[in-house]
Amino acid sequence: MKIEFVAVSGVTDVLAVLVGDGRVLAGKGPEHDAATGGALGRAMSAGRFTGAENTTLVVAGPSGVEAKTVLLVGTGKDELTEAGIETAAGAAYHAVKLSGAETLTLDFGHLTPEQAARAAFAVRLAAYTFNKYRTTLKPEKIASVTTVRIVTSDLRAAEAAYEPMSAVADAVVFARDLVAEPANVLYPAEFARRVKDLERLGLKVEILGEAEMEALGMWTLLGVGQGSRRESQLAVIQWNGGEPGAQPLGFVGKGVCFDTGGISIKPAEGMEDMKWDMGGAAAVAGLMHALAGRKAKVNAVGVLGLVENMPDGNAQRPGDVVISMSGQSVEVINTDAEGRLVLADALWYTQDRFKPKFMIDLATLTGAAIVALGLDYAALYSNDEAVAGPIFAAAEKVGENFWRMPLPKQYEKHIDSPIADVKNVGNGRAGGSITAALFLQRFVNGTPWAHLDIAPTAWVNKSTINTVPDGPVGFGVRTLDRMVADSYEG
Ligand code: BES
Ligand code: MN
Ligand code: ZN
Repeated sequence: MKIEFVAVSGVTDVLAVLVGDGRVLAGKGPEHDAATGGALGRAMSAGRFTGAENTTLVVAGPSGVEAKTVLLVGTGKDELTEAGIETAAGAAYHAVKLSGAETLTLDFGHLTPEQAARAAFAVRLAAYTFNKYRTTLKPEKIASVTTVRIVTSDLRAAEAAYEPMSAVADAVVFARDLVAEPANVLYPAEFARRVKDLERLGLKVEILGEAEMEALGMWTLLGVGQGSRRESQLAVIQWNGGEPGAQPLGFVGKGVCFDTGGISIKPAEGMEDMKWDMGGAAAVAGLMHALAGRKAKVNAVGVLGLVENMPDGNAQRPGDVVISMSGQSVEVINTDAEGRLVLADALWYTQDRFKPKFMIDLATLTGAAIVALGLDYAALYSNDEAVAGPIFAAAEKVGENFWRMPLPKQYEKHIDSPIADVKNVGNGRAGGSITAALFLQRFVNGTPWAHLDIAPTAWVNKSTINTVPDGPVGFGVRTLDRMVADSYEG
């Protein structure tokens, strides 16, 4: 996708203009309408298009303008918010992406450089596809639009505003690609390789294998991977764009490249979804990609626990007791509650080695989070308002939904074990997302911390957001990048 900022719309296949409620043409819309001899107004009054948000009307073959098609994009009544720009730009792209048009010009009227850049950013995200394994995809199913131009008065300023946004878009795409990959391709070592490759952006990446993790005593993580033919890995990604020696921000991701459930095996139906049980690790990798790509003025570390959870002659058994790096013993009641075992050691390692300002972990941790919140909200748990607050503030700005969940002391007893310090499941299915979070909390050693259970949101099947096509979401990258930008830089 080629993105260009231009001063005038010029010759193009599709010219997109905004329309507010009541069929009010915005920006240069009235001029374009006059040039076509009123074709735009007639097209609107010929049908039901009123300018409502996220609606479009194609006006094909008008005379008098340098475009083959004019696309009317409804914005509703509100003034253009960040989200409104993203919705409109995404709607424009989706309306014509398969039309045969190659160039799409967004002439949205008096955009600030920031708004123009945001329109470009939205199109980048809207245009995401994962077609690498589609060898017989019909040409008419492949997007025809290859160039998107955004009309804006200050080209330099728009380009400058787009630079960091482009870095974030690259990062979201990177995360989405990881999430989309099947598990025969993306196993722990391959995930680690792709992360190692991020050194090209200036990140420092260390990959620990099983021998190194054994030496560190990471037995809860290793226990999950011991039934797999694929070696478990820990990826440690550092970005040092802040003051030398300043305490880093810590991010930790669950990277279960495939979750069969292990010996506590999952039912066959839907098990294929468990290829995206590494969505938390992908988000953390994507965040580090974003921070490096836009040269964020902050120190940050991302730690990914990469394993495959398989049933096997060497797999861990229900009832096994393993010692975590923290020294706490864990009774593994259900081998399908593996994400918390991976995170237990990854969290402990992160605070022990880096003494971060805070730790935020992301994980497709529980089906119970889906039961509790449905598919549009991720669960947020935190032991510290100063961590939770900026996450919520950033999430709201980028349109990712989180809902605060409690960490009640009186539920701690549900994860007490008669044989070990803690067990890896709670009280039947009751509060399953909460007891998982309480388990994690026992491994943060008092560090300010938030846990984001993104099981509901890591993958989407019937998307209602133009910038998030069906499939891998890269959920969390935008929120955390924005949180770092707004609360921890400069
Ligand atoms: N990876 C799953 C959670 C999950 C479910 C993510 C659906 C995305 C969509 C996790 O490892 C798991 O299996 N959790 C169990 C925990 C239970 C055994 C205590 C669950 O949620 O059922
Ligand atoms: Mn599981
Ligand atoms: Zn899992």
